[in-house]
Amino acid sequence: MLDPKSAPNVEFLTETAAARELEYLSREIAHHDAAYHTQDAPEIPDAGYDALRRRNSAIEARFPGLIRADSPSNRIGGAPENGFSKRRHRVPMLSLDNAFDATEFDEFCARAKRFLGRTEPLGLVAEPKIDGLSINLTYEHGRFTYGATRGDGTEGEDVTANLRTMKSVPGKLHGEAPALIEIRGEVFMTKADFLALNQSQADAGAKIFANPRNAAAGSLRQLDVRITAGRPLSLFAYAQGESSEPVAETHWEYLQRLRNWGFDVNPLSRQLRSETGAEAFQNEIGLARSGLGYDIDGVVYKIDDLALQRRLGFAGRTPRWATAWKFPAEQATTVLREIRIQVGRTGALTPVAELEPINVGGVLVARATLHNEDEIARKDIRGGDTVVLQRAGDVIPQIVSVVLEQRPENSTPYTFPDTCPACGSHAVRPPGEVVKRCTGGLICSAQVVERLIHFVSRTAFDIDGLGEKTIQEFYDEGWLHSPADLFKLPGREAEIATRKGWKEVSARNLSRAINARRTISLERFIYALGIRRIGESNAKLLARHYGSFANWRTQMRAAQQIGSEERSELGSISGIGSTIAEELTDFFDEPRNVTTLDETAAQLTIQDAARAESANSPVAGKTVVFTGTLETLTRPEAKARAESLGAKVTDSVSKKTDIVVVGTDAGSKARKAAELGVRTMTEAEWRELVG
Ligand code: IVH
Repeated sequence: MLDPKSAPNVEFLTETAAARELEYLSREIAHHDAAYHTQDAPEIPDAGYDALRRRNSAIEARFPGLIRADSPSNRIGGAPENGFSKRRHRVPMLSLDNAFDATEFDEFCARAKRFLGRTEPLGLVAEPKIDGLSINLTYEHGRFTYGATRGDGTEGEDVTANLRTMKSVPGKLHGEAPALIEIRGEVFMTKADFLALNQSQADAGAKIFANPRNAAAGSLRQLDVRITAGRPLSLFAYAQGESSEPVAETHWEYLQRLRNWGFDVNPLSRQLRSETGAEAFQNEIGLARSGLGYDIDGVVYKIDDLALQRRLGFAGRTPRWATAWKFPAEQATTVLREIRIQVGRTGALTPVAELEPINVGGVLVARATLHNEDEIARKDIRGGDTVVLQRAGDVIPQIVSVVLEQRPENSTPYTFPDTCPACGSHAVRPPGEVVKRCTGGLICSAQVVERLIHFVSRTAFDIDGLGEKTIQEFYDEGWLHSPADLFKLPGREAEIATRKGWKEVSARNLSRAINARRTISLERFIYALGIRRIGESNAKLLARHYGSFANWRTQMRAAQQIGSEERSELGSISGIGSTIAEELTDFFDEPRNVTTLDETAAQLTIQDAARAESANSPVAGKTVVFTGTLETLTRPEAKARAESLGAKVTDSVSKKTDIVVVGTDAGSKARKAAELGVRTMTEAEWRELVG
């Protein structure tokens, strides 16, 4: 990703480079908008997102001729998703411009004054900018009739039923109310509620939210309103949309009316007589920030006089009468004790920084993710380093940089391990990928439960009565270390029958289900091993090609040798490319995988690959290559037909090839066949041969 901080100065951009970058930024920002607004799963911190938008605006300001039709400056938020019906806002819900320092804030005030042609101080209202999601509530004759999320600013999702579950959304406004009014505010979750929710989500094995904002959004946008009802959501009201009659003359007065109607209004909001008071307020809230019960990311300053607001109106997607003065991301420095490697359930090795615990913006942080090997190398992060941590709305902070002046003298660059810390198997990183993975899937304690669940799943061994919970239970008991142990469970039948939740009958049924699967087809067996990229169809290809377990095993062992005939044969099986071949050789490269494979196979009868139709076919067992353009068959059809007759179809011609079927415009393969003296035939001859 482009890092706007290190990107070339906008002043030095050529027009071509600017156009290219605007295109990139449009795509990138749209992607992050969707991740944030539609999937509630942001991939970058808010500060990074803001930087992208600022870069985009800066380039557009210098090259107005290059502003794109799909410019992010003309877009807000994410479009509504399926599931909720859509609800149009009577007055669009727009967004706010940002200021990042006093100079930018002063520019905002100067612009507004210029626009109004006035020199007197601006009366303002300052409100903490809550990091939640904005919501539009419609009240008709004082009754709450419907409510919607912001969505794309024009229409959002109708979440009326969900909003009705919230205590802070009054069903009826107290006192006098206009015939129709749209009231806007921010739905959020307090830090304490967020932590408690994540704890109970973790206990239930459910989704963990990255930050309070995502938790609030995820909780509000539940199709099952009972789930929302159980979630601790809060609301601060702060703005108005459509109104059938004026309800106030100043924004401050409007906030009073909101309070009287029964809404919560942020108690830290303040009326400022002049813009000169803003900086002090900004500092005051900045200091209070980490101690607040909820996340804020800045202060919103609004011109108090509503008549002036109307005169100022909007420029594009933002009002001229308000700005959000953002805080810098919360940062702190601490010492990184060590880099530890976590092994995920799929074998991915993830580096984690163990830190001297430190308070960053009100959250005690003892750990930070380092993402992957390249990230550590790029930032040259080492054990013992003093590092700058940043928390921008997220609970899991990022390491921004290393304080090099404080690096210990004896420090050495970090080397990412080549073996799995959980099981000692070797770890590999396929070319072009960023993640290093443990190859000991079947025996690695971090992965074994996941692998066993796959092993017994319906499309693999299909063992009835062995669900996720039971596997975890038997694993915790120490009975299951590898798939071979599954077949030892019938030997524990009596013991199982006495366990909580089990009876003699259920234990007997489990033994039966396991024993019934001691005979298994080769393709299911290969698939059950859970080797990366070997799904059902690749397992089938391998089974058909190698025929028997013994042959497959021998060939795979031999294929370890780069340049061996077995290796090139594997890579040339139609449908199996070099990437898949490498996953297989990585698996067989780990001796403990082979031991486990053999132990498991010893418990089973593995049937040779099905060749029912093929027994007396003239091409059974033959290795066939199709080359050139076929006239009456598509390539996949030809291949499928050949395989169903027991032939092996490969992509390249070798001594082992029996038949080359030559279509039109055939090239080197036909020549090679002639050179090697391999039998060739036309498409018509092939059709005749196979009927
Ligand atoms: S006023 C025309 N006031 O910030 C814009 N917004 O970037 C009216 N926000 O979408 C918005 N606290 O989600 C306003 N006190 C506050 C706010 C606030 C948080 C959010 C809101 C809005 C976004 C704008």
